[in-house]
Amino acid sequence: MTDSTIIKKIEKLRNEIRRHEHLYYVLDAPEISDAEYDALYNQLKQLEAEHPETITSDSPTQRVGGAPREDFASVHHSVPMQSLDNAYSELELRDFDRKVKEGAGRENIEYVAELKLDGMSMAVVYEGGSLARAITRGDGATGEEVTANARTIRSLPLSVPRSEMKQLSLSEAFEVRGEVLLGRKAFEKINADREAAGLPRFANPRNAAAGSIRMLEPSVVAERHLDYFAYLLLVDGGAPLETQWQELETLAALGFKVNPRRKLCSGIDEAIQFIAEWDTQRAGLEYEIDGIVIKVNSIALQREMGSTARAPRWATAYKFPAQRAVTRVNNIEVQVGRTGALTPVAILEPVALGGVTVKRATLHNEDEIRRLDLRIGDRVVIERGGEVIPKVLRVDLAAREEREHELREFVMPDRCPICGGHVVREEGEVAWRCVSSSCPAKLKEAILHFAGRKAMNIDGLGEALVDQLVDGALVKDFADLYQLTEEQLVALERMGKKSAENLLTEIDASRQRGLDRLIFALGIRFVGERTATLLADHFGTMSKLQEASQEELEAVFEVGPIVAASIRHFFGEERNRELIHRLEAIGLRPEQEVKRKAVGALEGKAFVLTGTLERLTRDEAKQRIEQAGGRVTGSVSKKTDYVVAGADPGSKLDKARELGLTIINETELEELLKE
Ligand code: IVH
Repeated sequence: MTDSTIIKKIEKLRNEIRRHEHLYYVLDAPEISDAEYDALYNQLKQLEAEHPETITSDSPTQRVGGAPREDFASVHHSVPMQSLDNAYSELELRDFDRKVKEGAGRENIEYVAELKLDGMSMAVVYEGGSLARAITRGDGATGEEVTANARTIRSLPLSVPRSEMKQLSLSEAFEVRGEVLLGRKAFEKINADREAAGLPRFANPRNAAAGSIRMLEPSVVAERHLDYFAYLLLVDGGAPLETQWQELETLAALGFKVNPRRKLCSGIDEAIQFIAEWDTQRAGLEYEIDGIVIKVNSIALQREMGSTARAPRWATAYKFPAQRAVTRVNNIEVQVGRTGALTPVAILEPVALGGVTVKRATLHNEDEIRRLDLRIGDRVVIERGGEVIPKVLRVDLAAREEREHELREFVMPDRCPICGGHVVREEGEVAWRCVSSSCPAKLKEAILHFAGRKAMNIDGLGEALVDQLVDGALVKDFADLYQLTEEQLVALERMGKKSAENLLTEIDASRQRGLDRLIFALGIRFVGERTATLLADHFGTMSKLQEASQEELEAVFEVGPIVAASIRHFFGEERNRELIHRLEAIGLRPEQEVKRKAVGALEGKAFVLTGTLERLTRDEAKQRIEQAGGRVTGSVSKKTDYVVAGADPGSKLDKARELGLTIINETELEELLKE
């Protein structure tokens, strides 16, 4: 038995962390610094490590707990997830309003206007106040169960406060529907990563969000920084309140992220005004929207109006016209990124588009230029999508004839435009890549990442300075930073004695950073902050991590084959091993206390549940298995250790028999749990 004061202390700490997560991820209004948050989080981790029996699945430490999986289970939606009818003009909106008025038999209709987020809809089911299941929209009737991935979304509460549920007299089970979303920054980062890996870019944030939530390795999903905005609340498949506005306020009170940019409109005119406001302001949002959703506020009226097979009659989605402009491509330049990928960029005749002046457009890669049949000097249509930099949609071929002679074919350089090194295009890749290990373009990006706030946190080491350090050959790798002298620094532009001293103090102080930060700072593919922390906790030293085998890496609970292979690849390079060696010689040898999870009786064992159990609900069974160190996956494979079969088992049991796996019943499971 755990001492009740410990339990209270742990629960208090959890609530405090939850409050700060809510302030940070949902309300965007943090009250404490990242470091203070980390301290609280680590304190909780420590206490939980000492008292593993207190761990509950809704603890803030349990977001990334799911093991990699082989597929997702299909799940029926409580009620179909509908789509929305579209309106493309004020005329169509007024027509919608007229139909609503006819249906209602009255003139005064209230509407709720919400931003139409360009993501993917997802339903989240809560049971007993805890997140039980997350299901993608799928075909509307059936979706895929992506719970382990959804748990990694920090703005999605793992549980809702009981007190709040009571006050709202909300029943034990309810469902939330909303949008999984990627901010512009996160979207750009994913695309940059994909490009670096030779994969095609996601065309828009919606595809990227959908692709991310359906990835099979939750630890990779966790690093993608997905977001979730809630817009519908359901109890027993219906709306439990009287108005849509109340629904949104209730969702916010429960701790969900609800878009503050919304308006309760006294009629269609106000809704149209809201649309006009956001049409001009949307470029400034941190995420992409493609329109405004207008919903009838009264739920009674919603019920009365009902739905067509496809969409409700009480709502419509106004779609913004695409943000497009016509201009001329004056030149095509080639940029080199951190991974050496060469990206052609169109230099445009400046043109106004959605409230900003656009001077450049990305062309992604050589194939894209060929697909567009683009020449330098062409007139083009450009479009702003989820990215900050717009893209070239098409070439105005009709405008070409009279000025054919002014046009110039673009040729991809056969040498890196930055360092003159060799460029190669690997089989199956879209990008040409500079393979020179000392390419300054790659190095600059890598150093900026290394010095970043969440990595080694070297304040004052910004872009202008890194440019000078690399161009002047003062820094050729991370280790060189630690050998800079005051003399060298004061010789640089805009660098006085005082700033040089400050920078050296900063660099020196960064020697004290923990192992987690150092691992993150190295810029290993797929190893973001969270994964870096997990690795640091598990291995304790850089050399242990460096020597870890694929199996040992995968044994870190949340690390799957993709992440493990990437780490192996990084340390497999002679150059990287040398770098680590040099960093150690300089004194960067952080050690971290190894925080292995207390070994439960079922440590590392994989379970699959099928059929109905008598005494335990599925969630209870799952929770107890996880508390004992095991994990529950959705599908049977050779790696499954136990299949727990209840009444009316499904096809999973047949498959288990086929594979000759160990099949146990509920009583036998209880025996195992007791051990
Ligand atoms: S309400 C029955 N509200 O737009 C109600 N949808 O084109 C259906 N969407 O599938 C959804 N923002 O993925 C609603 N504030 C919002 C929304 C929104 C984005 C998406 C959603 C839906 C699609 C329909």
